[in-house]
Amino acid sequence: LMSLTVTSVRLTGTKYGCGGGGCGACTVMVSRYQPATKTIIHYSANACLLPLCQLHGAAVTTVEGIGSTKTRIHPVQERIAKAHGSQCGFCTPGMVMSMYALLRNKPHPTMEDITQALAGLCEANCCQANGAGDCCLNGEGSTDESEHEKPQLFDKEEFLPLDPTQELIFPPELILMAETGNPETLTFCGERMRWVSPASLEELVQLKASNPKAPLVMGNTNIGPDIKFKGVLHPLIISPTRVMELFEVTQTPQGVWVGAGCSLSEVRSLLQKLVPQFPEEKTELFRALIQQLGNLGSQQIRNVASLGGNIMSAYPNSDLNPVLAAGNCKLSVISTGGRREVPLNPDFFVSFGKTILKPEEIVVSVFVPFSRKGEFVRAFRQAPRKESSFATVTTAMRVFFSEGSRVVRDVSIYYGGMGPTTVSATKTCAALVTRPWDDETLSRAYDVLLDELVLPPSAPGGKVEFRRSLTLSFLFKFNLEVLQKLREMKMQIQPLPREIQPSLQEFQVRKYPSFKDQSVQDPVGRPIMHRSAISQATGEAVYCDDIPRTDGELFLVLVTSSRAHAKITGLDVSEALRLPGVVDVITAKDIPGKKVRTMFGYHEELLAESEVSCIGQMICAVVADTRAHAKRGAAAVKISYEDLPDPVFTIEVCGVFCFSLFSICGYFRIGNVTEAFETVDQLYEGEIRMGGQEHFYMETQSMLVVPVGEETEFKVYVSTQWPTSTQDAIAETLDIPSNRVTCHVKRMGGAFGGKVTKTAVLASITSVAAWKTNRAVRCVLERGEDMLITGGRHPILAKYKVGFMNDGRIVAADIEYYTNAGNTVDESVLVGKIEKILLHMDNAYNIPNLQGRAAACRTNLPSNTAFRGFGVPQSIMVVENMVNDVAVVLGRPADQIREINMYKGPSVTHYKFEFSPENMLRCWEECKVKADYSARRRAVDQFNQQNRWKKRGMSIIPIKYGIAFAESFLNQAAALVHIYKDGSVLVTHGGTEMGQGIHTKMQQVASRELRIPPSKIYISETSTNTVPNTCPSAASFGTDANGMAVKNACQTLYQRLEPVRQKDPKGSWESWVNAAFFEKISLSATGFYRGPDLYMDWDKMEGQPYAYFTFGACCCEVELDCLTGDYRTVRTDIVVDIGRSVNPSVDIGQIEGAFMQGLGLYTLEELKFSPSGLLYTRGPSQYKIPAVCDVPLRFNVYLLSDSHNPHAIYSSKGIGEPVLFLGSSVFFAIKDAVAAARAESGLVGPFSLDSPATPERACLACASLFTQKIPASKPGSYKPWALNI
Ligand SMILES: Cc1cc2nc3c(=O)[nH]c(=O)nc-3n(C[C@H](O)[C@H](O)[C@H](O)COP(=O)(O)OP(=O)(O)OC[C@H]3O[C@@H](n4cnc5c(N)ncnc54)[C@H](O)[C@@H]3O)c2cc1C
Ligand code: FES
Repeated sequence: LMSLTVTSVRLTGTKYGCGGGGCGACTVMVSRYQPATKTIIHYSANACLLPLCQLHGAAVTTVEGIGSTKTRIHPVQERIAKAHGSQCGFCTPGMVMSMYALLRNKPHPTMEDITQALAGLCEANCCQANGAGDCCLNGEGSTDESEHEKPQLFDKEEFLPLDPTQELIFPPELILMAETGNPETLTFCGERMRWVSPASLEELVQLKASNPKAPLVMGNTNIGPDIKFKGVLHPLIISPTRVMELFEVTQTPQGVWVGAGCSLSEVRSLLQKLVPQFPEEKTELFRALIQQLGNLGSQQIRNVASLGGNIMSAYPNSDLNPVLAAGNCKLSVISTGGRREVPLNPDFFVSFGKTILKPEEIVVSVFVPFSRKGEFVRAFRQAPRKESSFATVTTAMRVFFSEGSRVVRDVSIYYGGMGPTTVSATKTCAALVTRPWDDETLSRAYDVLLDELVLPPSAPGGKVEFRRSLTLSFLFKFNLEVLQKLREMKMQIQPLPREIQPSLQEFQVRKYPSFKDQSVQDPVGRPIMHRSAISQATGEAVYCDDIPRTDGELFLVLVTSSRAHAKITGLDVSEALRLPGVVDVITAKDIPGKKVRTMFGYHEELLAESEVSCIGQMICAVVADTRAHAKRGAAAVKISYEDLPDPVFTIEVCGVFCFSLFSICGYFRIGNVTEAFETVDQLYEGEIRMGGQEHFYMETQSMLVVPVGEETEFKVYVSTQWPTSTQDAIAETLDIPSNRVTCHVKRMGGAFGGKVTKTAVLASITSVAAWKTNRAVRCVLERGEDMLITGGRHPILAKYKVGFMNDGRIVAADIEYYTNAGNTVDESVLVGKIEKILLHMDNAYNIPNLQGRAAACRTNLPSNTAFRGFGVPQSIMVVENMVNDVAVVLGRPADQIREINMYKGPSVTHYKFEFSPENMLRCWEECKVKADYSARRRAVDQFNQQNRWKKRGMSIIPIKYGIAFAESFLNQAAALVHIYKDGSVLVTHGGTEMGQGIHTKMQQVASRELRIPPSKIYISETSTNTVPNTCPSAASFGTDANGMAVKNACQTLYQRLEPVRQKDPKGSWESWVNAAFFEKISLSATGFYRGPDLYMDWDKMEGQPYAYFTFGACCCEVELDCLTGDYRTVRTDIVVDIGRSVNPSVDIGQIEGAFMQGLGLYTLEELKFSPSGLLYTRGPSQYKIPAVCDVPLRFNVYLLSDSHNPHAIYSSKGIGEPVLFLGSSVFFAIKDAVAAARAESGLVGPFSLDSPATPERACLACASLFTQKIPASKPGSYKPWALNI
């Protein structure tokens, strides 16, 4: 369906984010008429996995169908836009359609319904959090009466009511077709496949008998990704979705037969309907299934994935199979040999993806029995993310007691995630059966289970210790529940307190405080909606790949290295060139100009010629008439290699022993650390490792290079943060002047630093293809390619030694940072892995003797690059961890140690930069007050005393973040403003829109300066032919720089109009503009901003590398399940000093989004590499970014009042990056909770917890009696599944 909507019907609202059902960007609504009940059903689904042939007779509604700016926008579209729920907007249509489908089924949904509907969307990163939190603007402390009023970010009264009678009707012709049509076999033939949809069970049985290898495609959620990502080809596909018997439900006195074709959502609804109809004791199994079904995949997946498909996929970590097997379910299967019943017992699952059924057998239905009196069934799962994530370990357990006794009559326990398929813990069951359910029996059972479910240390999936400990923890949890059920529970389990409300809370409606003497018309400082929010919500917003195909256009697919370090000994493209549609293969030899890009004196080949230094390095590119043909061509390119010795992957191997193969080292010192260490009361040495991060911009790297046709001129449409750099790179690569290349950026679907240098390289390669073929060439990376090729945030290993006094004063610290740079330098110096790390190693603290060393280590992994915060999130993490350790050593609360060491009064940083920390201290104090820190800290301690297996933790963290570029030349910006004769204004500036709302803010600036409403001002795009020589939109400096340039241009124009205004003071804007034209006054002006002359003298170790600091503080509380490592952020309070915000709603969106991205960095996101350097995590199914379920249950954002900043436009401050670090507050709260758990095991003192604090790390750090039972494998005695880079 996806390719139909995009290429044939040319509907661009349905977005392609991953292609595997993992991100929800492509959500549409499918509607079907059911003749039997004469009803229409609606459900949301992922267009990327919906086979077109399966939609015969169905109606599909895309975002374009429900509303548009040309007709009328739908209330859902209006709300998400006006309530500031859309930033980069790439996934907004997906969210809209998820909500729309929900409302079609349930016009009055509960908050739980809404969170469930949004659970399958990967957008908490940038957009989702916005609108989800309890956001408010802080007016307290001001003398202005009006500022005491609570701020209002949008007006609910303005919203259109939802009127279900106005919705689209189901096409009557489809009803007629369903009512009258004769069911007959449908056959569709494609280039390489045949799709047959039989109309009856008999026909299906015959078809399968004669084609036993052909898969039955129901939901396509297993077969689809296999075809797409593994290149599996099925010449014949059988689609049994029209065979009625597969959807029948029959109730019997023993239970219910459920059709194998029923979707998982239908199964859940059915069971939910049945549960209240029977006594509780009969529905134990039903309820366990309902629970697992609620957590399995996303709603879009559950709406299409079938019960039979889940069973027959036989995934190792299927959530349903352990429950069905533990619950003694059975299958009714059919083949030409007849029908038979097959129990789901320990023999059923044979190996990965295999069951004992014969290939020609078809599952018709599944029998789910009622439970009996004395029978208890429970299911548990632990997953990297709470929702929309395959489980790490999943289990179901059933016990049946002899009547009136605690003696076990029957028991079954199944696990998923503990081997290649669902496994039965048969020996453990044998240790339980016929024995009384008591401590002694259970204790034996744990030991048997430990021996029974063993994983080799290098087991696929890794996390071996954790997985093994989970098997024990789950049995323990089951024990607790059974005991509770038997009313003999001895342990106390506290329910969550009332204060924890559903995670999505509406904004508190408050009136926004106005600037004194500000005209009503002036939009600056007001919460203006993102200027493209409505277009984003209707799907009309144009992203790079939405630009219509031009005649003869080609698609480019890259061929990348499969070796980490090797010589290329052969490149054979002949087979690729023979394939249909393939036009050419581009290699380094085709590059007419510079074949390398040079950064800091290091060369990086655009396309590798003779040697490769990482898996994923680009070698050549195939261009073909379609994406599918180019993909096939790329797969046919043959490359032979000769491996080179000793590829280096980990920081240890490179960093510690070689220090740095790039020789990029930085050193910084203030005071005398060595001497100071002699004078302190205590010394402590620690170490922390922090993982990298994938940008996961929702729009992958995208570009379209169009040859103009004469004088080697090119128009380039590209998703980049830095159009000038792309222009320069293309010009150098093609050996043409820059004036022949024009780059255009309409908007980006997110960027986060990943669309600066990497995009320029990709665009250069694409331009070579366009130049060579003289045809337009498009390159849009698949999610997996993007993740493989483009790198991300630098992982880091840091070691520190800290000297402090017993009263808490830190006197000296010596810190070493080693970053994993990957195979090329990229931005490891300029953007600052080294610089920024060393400049921020003080964070908020005045440490008189401070020494830092940093090295960028070259490894054979894909090169890392800029990422929101540019090394600061790594640097400060180390410092805060060190301060935390000091607190633990001293046995004092961490917030006290932080306070003792903070800068106070007029201050000077370690690089001799003078500043006032007053607003930092105000943020800190205010955060403590707003969060009710002291009282809640006491409550947390009390909770921890009362609970053994659940612990709460709290932390409060400050930030001091330097804004602007230390490289002075980057602190400049230009703008071009045209006023047209009708009075409309076109603004162009050097900043690029990536969701951060820069165009909205520029519109506000122009509106204020020209004194006209924002509606008269338009911003079309950023382009190098309107504003040349731009600087990157990065370093949180976009608004500061471009705002001043726009202001400058507008002031020039306003001044030019002064004479006509004076001649006609009562005239209108339009009349003045018109008069100016006739008086030959130029209505076009450029604006320029020469930013601060910042510098850093690394020899003298001093400088002024920043224009000013953005300050903030964040307090978080978490609740941790010590048995599984699952945690929930109970509450977050953030206070940020952003001066006088130009647009509070946009800025709050940035704060919330950055916090969530930080939460992902420090607690969730894990990049996994194989021992040979291959990135395993190449899509949302393997790499989890925060989703709705991760948004804190209470999320308060406050903007510090009465803050002024003379260094930026209208006294505002940059905000894009700083708050990301505050996500670490969740990490430290988890660490605090872990410390409480360790104390129960008698473990006190500092302990190591690396970032991200995933459930695995948190659980193992808790050192519970179950994790302690797992013997650790000796490092070096085995090859781990994944590298610790
Ligand atoms: C993004 C995503 C997230 C997911 N998350 C989870 C999760 O958290 N937990 C979990 O358990 N699963 C999860 N899954 C897996 C999903 O539940 C299964 O892929 C799904 O249930 C398979 O059903 P289907 O109808 O889509 O199968 P299809 O892909 O249509 O078919 C799968 C296989 O089953 C066979 N088959 C189907 N029906 C029958 C039948 N009646 N008789 C015989 N053979 C049959 C087919 O021949 C085929 O080989 C996820 C999948 C995706 C894509
Ligand atoms: S593109 Fe379909 S779910 Fe991601």
